Amino acid sequence: CPLMLIDTFGRLHTSLRVSVTDRCNLRCTYCMPAETPDYESRTEILTFEEIERFVRIAVELGVDDVRLTGGEPLVRAELHKLVGRINAIDGIRRMSMTTNGVLLEAQLDDLFAAGLRSVNVSLDALDAASFREATRRPGLDKVLSAITAARKRQMKVKINAIALRGFTERHIEAFGHFARETKIPIRFIEFMPLDTDGTWDSASVLTGAEILARFSKAIRPLVPLTSNDSPATDYQFDDGLGTIGVIPSVSEPFCDTCNRFRLTADGQLRNCLFGEDSGDVRVLLRNGSDDAAIADRIRSAVSSKKAGHGTDDLTFLRPTRPMYSIGG
Ligand code: GTP
Ligand code: 5AD
Ligand code: SF4
Repeated sequence: CPLMLIDTFGRLHTSLRVSVTDRCNLRCTYCMPAETPDYESRTEILTFEEIERFVRIAVELGVDDVRLTGGEPLVRAELHKLVGRINAIDGIRRMSMTTNGVLLEAQLDDLFAAGLRSVNVSLDALDAASFREATRRPGLDKVLSAITAARKRQMKVKINAIALRGFTERHIEAFGHFARETKIPIRFIEFMPLDTDGTWDSASVLTGAEILARFSKAIRPLVPLTSNDSPATDYQFDDGLGTIGVIPSVSEPFCDTCNRFRLTADGQLRNCLFGEDSGDVRVLLRNGSDDAAIADRIRSAVSSKKAGHGTDDLTFLRPTRPMYSIGG
């Protein structure tokens, strides 16, 4: 279909990640600086009306999967209202949110009523001291309690944990037991060069392969599950109890099957997590442009997408926006 979003490498784009704010209530070391950064101002951030219009146009171009991200999406006031608006768009097959979970339980009733049925919760450790070490903030109890509450509602919950050398190794055993007891899938994301502090180097990445080997050794052998359309490769312990996934963005990039693009909170398109801004839609949303002009800008952002991020390549340049202002 000529209207669909297909890039010059034949990749069909059906998945949109919408960052609703660059603000966050945590300060994870692998993402944010210790001190509060200069956040975007209220007027720079798209309104819910603007985001809803953009998503409608994207859906007409074949997008059927929308994920809300941040910063931390739930620090944006009344986020459930945006969830409801997006959920009401005809053609959305899947809507989800990626959150650090700290504010989730307090907003769960509203989010559920607005139609949210799936959340990915970031959680790097299961003990309070390590949680604080990773996030520079307290909050573990709230996150755990929100996970339990979301599960009680039959929401789909997955956990994202950072795979950081010198940190994650210590938490393998606890996560293994947690995955088996709760049956919540836990995915380990290789540390990517998107941290504000610039501490990333290839040696700081605990690779997916190493994570899997460590789980097999500490708990019991893992066997692969059939693949899905997520960036994670999932495994199950050989007794069928507990799912562990890895997102090996650095050691085994999955760029050749990438189906996603992003909208930042300030209304910039990004065709790749590791790229740069690839189209200003805020200006179009605010200067009276019609839907066709916005659709064209989305198409051209997708057309200019590169084959891959090349983090392993000597020519790789760190993106100028850190993770919290892209949306992960
Ligand atoms: P599911 O569809 O539920 O698996 O969601 P997801 O894994 O796509 O979304 P989530 O927000 O949970 O993403 C977890 C991590 O996957 C992100 O923080 C990134 O590290 C990685 N990821 C997501 N999208 C991309 C992408 O386009 N490229 C790369 N390299 N990594 C990505
Ligand atoms: N490398 C890998 N994952 C990261 N995240 C944030 N910064 C990084 C990074 N530099 C993760 C968060 C969250 C997801 C959206 O991205 O922990 O789970
Ligand atoms: Fe796709 Fe870019 Fe992510 Fe690679 S890094 S998977 S090309 S968005």
